[in-house]
Amino acid sequence: MALQRLNRIRDAITTIPDFPKPGIYFKDIFPILGNPEVFSELNEIIYEASKSMPQVECVVGLESRGFLFGPILAQKLKVPFVPIRKKGKLPGEVVSQTFELEYGTDCFEIQRGSVTKGQKVLIIDDLLATGGTMKAASDLVTKVGADVVLCLCIIELLGLKGAKSLDKPFKSLIAFD
Ligand code: PRP
Ligand code: MG
Repeated sequence: MALQRLNRIRDAITTIPDFPKPGIYFKDIFPILGNPEVFSELNEIIYEASKSMPQVECVVGLESRGFLFGPILAQKLKVPFVPIRKKGKLPGEVVSQTFELEYGTDCFEIQRGSVTKGQKVLIIDDLLATGGTMKAASDLVTKVGADVVLCLCIIELLGLKGAKSLDKPFKSLIAFD
């Protein structure tokens, strides 16, 4: 039953070859959002996966595709949602974390005080590839003193072994080779 439910989600994800660069097989999650029933089912599955973690006190979502799922999960869990954004997008005092991309570096920011010391945080994003994005987010949340209890992604690209780079509990819902 659980597998059947996940297969409906998997079937809605499309693969676009050579996007955004030649040789990359892009996993497009937006068709999920184009089908209200499938989107609703996925949000329920995410909620169930999160409930199995005791005492999540805050959901942190990663710009930009983590924003599609994070606020809905936070509402279901009845906890706050907090964004991590790319450099220069959040007002007020921020804490930053630079990270490596395939070519060059990028920088994530979180507003100081948006998560509290010792708070149990679930981080959500749509997809884990190399793991660099999730690791940077996890490091940033840890840097501001919160406790990362789960890094959750809908899709995991197994071939890139991104999960190995993470040092916090990690769960994905749908894996592709
Ligand atoms: C994609 C995806 C993840 C990240 C995974 O985001 O949404 O956040 O890449 O890659 P990694 O595991 O190799 O770090 P992207 O930076 O393309 O931007 P978007 O979410 O704003 O579309
Ligand atoms: Mg992203």
